[in-house]
Amino acid sequence: MLLCAHEFAAVAERVQQAPRLLVLTGAGMSAESGVPTFREAQTGLWARFSPEDLATPQAFAATPERVLDWYRWRRDLVAKAAPNAGHRALAQWQRGHPGMDLVTQNVDGLHQRAGSTGVVELHGRLSHLRCEQCAQSLPWPDDDPGGVLWHQCGSGSVGGSRKSIAALAAPAGRLRPDIVWFGEALPAAAWEHAERRAREADVVLVVGTSGLVHPAAALPSIAQRAGAYVVEVNPQPTALSPEVDACVSGTAAEVLPQLLAMPPA
Ligand code: OAD
Repeated sequence: MLLCAHEFAAVAERVQQAPRLLVLTGAGMSAESGVPTFREAQTGLWARFSPEDLATPQAFAATPERVLDWYRWRRDLVAKAAPNAGHRALAQWQRGHPGMDLVTQNVDGLHQRAGSTGVVELHGRLSHLRCEQCAQSLPWPDDDPGGVLWHQCGSGSVGGSRKSIAALAAPAGRLRPDIVWFGEALPAAAWEHAERRAREADVVLVVGTSGLVHPAAALPSIAQRAGAYVVEVNPQPTALSPEVDACVSGTAAEVLPQLLAMPPA
């Protein structure tokens, strides 16, 4: 950690004493669970895949099966992963401190699997599909038949192929991953909640995000302008580092249990 023990203790005290603590997490939060980040050279998903081909409405319109298969691959990867000591420390802290809010850019559900509740998911969730027609969000079925999936609007369940749905009464809608793609707006309720909590926070803990994707990246400065003390936890300097009040240089699984004074795992 970059901070000396004395400085670290002072930062930890501020975090632990905060009546309203807002935690904002990004892909680095899950890196030690084996889930790749996006922008790191070599290992980041956007170093290996093109976001234009896989994470835009245009890509889904052009090659829906390819896009769905990429998200199926990511779902498999996340299903095999487990929450790390960082996820567990946040969940444990939240249980004793109802003034903590957790806002994530991650779609992997690992915070919830660690036991966190009320998680605000700004960028959607891999666990669900959404109907292009009626916007209903449905659990991605475990018995996924593959291919492009459809549902009968109002039915509350995934129906399967276009052919099987056509046999039923219309209207039907094609299902897409319940993920926010490039060029799309964030879910309004999630963003409003996150922005409100940022303005109310006493301390913001920013963990494992490059701070390059807006509007999520604006939350720390929104909070800071409203008087919050902002702490960044990241092994690398980020776009946010020059603005925050304290940088703790280290990984989520290493730093968070210490910052929140959890007994060693
Ligand atoms: P990035 O891939 O842009 O940044 C990941 C950050 O995590 C980097 O700053 C790393 O230094 C840091 N990091 C790596 N390992 C870490 C560890 N073990 N502990 C703590 N930090 C670590 O990911 P995000 O900032 O989350 O959007 O990206 C934001 C959005 O861009 C994502 O939600 C995704 C992507 O396109 C959508 O899918 C909509």
